Amino acid sequence: MKKIKPAFVAMLLATATHAQDADPLAPTGRWTAYTAGRAATPPMGWNSWNAFASAVDEEKVMGSAKRIVDSGLARKGYLYINLDDGWAAKRRQPDGHLIIRTDKFPSSVARNRKTPSFKPFTDKLHAMGLKAGIYSDMGRNTCAQAWSTTEEHLPKGSVAEREVGLHDYIDQDIALYFREWGFDYIKVDGCGLRDFGPNSPKVKAGQARALTPIMDLGAITRTDVPAVQDLFRRVGAAIVRNNPDGDFVYSLCIWGAANVRAWAKDMGNVSRTSDDISPAWGRLMVNYDSAVHRALYAHPGSWNDPDMLHIGAGDFDAEHLTEARSHFALWAMMNAPLLIGADLPSMPDSLMEILGNADIIALNQDAAGNQATVVYDSSDLQVLLKALGNGDKAVAIFNRGSVALDVSLQATQLKYRDDAPVEMTDLWTKKRFSFTKDTKLRVAPRETLIFRAIGTRALADGLYLSEQPGKVNPAVDGVTRPIADPTIFRTAHGWGGTHGAGDRPQYAGWGGARADSAPYGQTLQIARKAYPSGIGILANSRLEVRNDGYRRFTADVGVDDSATDKSHEVTFAVYGDGKRLAESRPLKWGMPAEPVEVDVSGVAVIELVARSTNNQNEALPVTWGAAALTRNAD
Ligand code: GLA
Repeated sequence: MKKIKPAFVAMLLATATHAQDADPLAPTGRWTAYTAGRAATPPMGWNSWNAFASAVDEEKVMGSAKRIVDSGLARKGYLYINLDDGWAAKRRQPDGHLIIRTDKFPSSVARNRKTPSFKPFTDKLHAMGLKAGIYSDMGRNTCAQAWSTTEEHLPKGSVAEREVGLHDYIDQDIALYFREWGFDYIKVDGCGLRDFGPNSPKVKAGQARALTPIMDLGAITRTDVPAVQDLFRRVGAAIVRNNPDGDFVYSLCIWGAANVRAWAKDMGNVSRTSDDISPAWGRLMVNYDSAVHRALYAHPGSWNDPDMLHIGAGDFDAEHLTEARSHFALWAMMNAPLLIGADLPSMPDSLMEILGNADIIALNQDAAGNQATVVYDSSDLQVLLKALGNGDKAVAIFNRGSVALDVSLQATQLKYRDDAPVEMTDLWTKKRFSFTKDTKLRVAPRETLIFRAIGTRALADGLYLSEQPGKVNPAVDGVTRPIADPTIFRTAHGWGGTHGAGDRPQYAGWGGARADSAPYGQTLQIARKAYPSGIGILANSRLEVRNDGYRRFTADVGVDDSATDKSHEVTFAVYGDGKRLAESRPLKWGMPAEPVEVDVSGVAVIELVARSTNNQNEALPVTWGAAALTRNAD
């Protein structure tokens, strides 16, 4: 195997989780994405923040919990009842024990107990058949402590007493939450790591101790990625230690900062991809865009989180059913956590019906765990496709704009044959119809049509890798210069921007590896041959692929035509359970694709490595064209 440049290794190690001197492209023979905890399918439930912010109390939480049970939503999978920011009164001194706001959570004050406890609260939720979630921050203080405009619901007392975040108390707090209080879910926020620098208003006002920021949402260069990772890893280890039965969900909330795009999937169950949602259409689009091209980064056990549902408020209230339905359908297709953010006792039935659409919930909770991929993308229209475990497909046709659109849906976009009928069931109206080749559909402004489709697979004997993103893990995605740039904008091809002197779309801190698309959004293409199916990724990358009994792996490999590096060579290698099965000759831009065909019978984890001597990976997109696993070895 060729040696790679030490400088390149050092750069990759900044984000890799492997041993310091390891070659990040060396095969591991393992699936390394996170599988601990209880998130084989995306978590579902309710969270207090969108409805109540820090003014949360027990009565409000129990009101929504009760409606979840009474309305039948719990039976449909909405199980987690999560407290967000606002429950903490203080950290008692000198033992550091966290004290609950007893005026807000009366059940926490038991007669025979000196210290308030959430155990009666979680016991009650558990007795209702539900699960309980808690909130903390990775720093010393929480987001509300940084951002709230009123002191009313914030922790009180000395500076030390106000430090209710995990930072210096990881083991103590995690043991308290899970072992003593009986929670099943934790959301770990990140404001404490970025908003309490020496010049922050709260520090200057003497209300908080300065913590030199180690994370900056706007600049990776002002972020200490290994330090942030280290904290999240330590919390993760404490969670595992304190949950011997593995019954937990670990939710990371750092909004895409600290290059979390590359490592959250290795460290926790869900990870926020954007800043907070608000009940406004434009904001929904930002959150949606932050996750929709990231299908390859979501797997059973670890999901993209574009934030909680905001159905019930603003642009998603009962006067805006089209928008509310779109929000729900898109979140379901993206395998986002379905966490309701409304005060449920006052929720109109029309909105409860949306949340309770069992057919759409089933897409989100499908055991195959494939986040939908974008199979058609114009400025206002997107078609999302999601392969389901039973062989059916879910299709969403989304009109982002404000003018109705007439759409021609092609059987081939669904990776079905165009000479055989496709049966469609509309998951809102339950109406069925069938078509061959194509069908015309009208999509109202902001509407999402959503169907379950059954057709005849174009690839009769197997699956393209881009149809099973839940089984493809970009363990190393080749991104060496992640940029979290607030000036990024959405183009017809996804996130773009301008970069230095040229107008090469800038990598915006999201994406990297893509299903059926080059990393910067172009059609996959090698030496002018286009590939409607395949994986686009940057060079110096390693993909892990779970193999469920397929016998043959095939792909056409080469440097993608979108590459601006026309001189460096890339070698493509396929490994089976750590052993090299095939390697291409060195290929560079403009050279025709090289076909790869490998017998993978009995192999559990296939690894696809594209290695180059160039360390400017962003100039060197590569394509695993028509990459597929098929049953037949012949
Ligand atoms: C951050 C998070 C929100 C919420 C608030 C609480 O903004 O992103 O989801 O938890 O903090 O203060």
